[in-house]
Amino acid sequence: MTRCRVPGDKSIAHRALILAPLASGRSILRGIPTGRDVQSTVHAMRALGADFRSQGEGVLAVEGGLEATGPSAPIDCDKSGTTARLLAGLLAGLGVPGELDGDESLRRRPMDRVVYPLQAMGAPIRYLGERGTLPIRFDGRASGALRPLRHVPRISSAQVKSALLLAGLTGGTRVDVIESQQSRDHSERLLSWMGAPVEVDTKEDRVRVSLDPEGWHRPLRPLDLDVPGDLSSAAFLIVAALLTGRDLVVEGVGLNPTRTGLLDILRSMGAGVHTELEGSAASEPWGSVRVEAADLRPFRIAPAMVPRLLDEIPALAVLAARIPGTSMIEGAAELRHKESDRLGLTARNLDRLGVDCDETPDGLRIRGSATPLSGLVETGGDHRLAMAFGVLARLPGMEIAVQEPEAVEVSFPGFWDELDALVPRSEAIGRRPTR
Ligand code: S3P
Repeated sequence: MTRCRVPGDKSIAHRALILAPLASGRSILRGIPTGRDVQSTVHAMRALGADFRSQGEGVLAVEGGLEATGPSAPIDCDKSGTTARLLAGLLAGLGVPGELDGDESLRRRPMDRVVYPLQAMGAPIRYLGERGTLPIRFDGRASGALRPLRHVPRISSAQVKSALLLAGLTGGTRVDVIESQQSRDHSERLLSWMGAPVEVDTKEDRVRVSLDPEGWHRPLRPLDLDVPGDLSSAAFLIVAALLTGRDLVVEGVGLNPTRTGLLDILRSMGAGVHTELEGSAASEPWGSVRVEAADLRPFRIAPAMVPRLLDEIPALAVLAARIPGTSMIEGAAELRHKESDRLGLTARNLDRLGVDCDETPDGLRIRGSATPLSGLVETGGDHRLAMAFGVLARLPGMEIAVQEPEAVEVSFPGFWDELDALVPRSEAIGRRPTR
């Protein structure tokens, strides 16, 4: 039985770094990942005046009571969509002037999904380049609260929901976000734990998250948080273990039910999956996951399941490529707007390597086989594609090279070493796939 740990959860870390400076005292955050995306939020919050002090690797002491100042230079969110969208909500709510920008991949991603509802609240935001994308400028607001907002997004998005909650919290305005499929709920959990007036109302066909700061003057309680490991990072090691017939235990990993769709799919495929809850960190459940290899069946991901495994689809796609039978992914068009067009690029790469794969407007149909695969994988600089195809490349009998392997730095800087430890390179040489 191999055991491993993964870097801290990116989604929880972004939110903790944004909320801790708003608290009424000193927070301690441990397990902050060193990957590029989360560091973008560290830099962005520092630019707004946040006081972060390093207390060792991944440990930050954060002074509360942020008095945000408009940063003199544009805030560079690099490749991080979560940084850009959450910061948009924060700047809109705080009413400070500022500019948000990103690298060329982030400049291609849609920002109108947050800008439009923030403008509807009265936030003065302008596109500086192409309409709908970064860079964007916040003109600052002299006085007066934002208008309340009731928003029903076309697609569920935790980044949009979180941006609007941050705008409501810091702008002193009621916000209701109604999703037909619940997106990850880390913001709601952290905000409630810190004492913010957040309510979640779940009905069969929708989830409404409301934040109503009227009459609420209590300060936010500081955080003392150990960020649990990121199940989205663990997904790649779990798939590598299953494809090489190993049992694996991932320790100290986040088990928030809005994120564990991967485990349900693996169970549906016939894998042994056992979770053990060991604690809760600021309302975030965490524990260990044990995965036992088995003869696996193909899977079907229905649209309603997508938000719970959104970032795990590249890992599941390479798993499908080696499982006999046809696996289906539906309702995942949102993947076209991630760090790359993840549906298109996954299909193109699988096809190029010799996997029988059809791309649909919102999904993939993958017929798995044991045929040896060979070719060059184009990652488009997307960390999740580099890791997914990196796992495929490591299987015995493959002759696959992955372009831009350094893309893993975005979320999992030690990924290649962890993969080496789990599936030694020597195993991959000169052997044919066992399935
Ligand atoms: C994230 C939400 C998800 C996910 C992304 C991180 C977040 O995107 O894909 O990697 O931390 O809020 P959506 O905004 O599409 O839910």
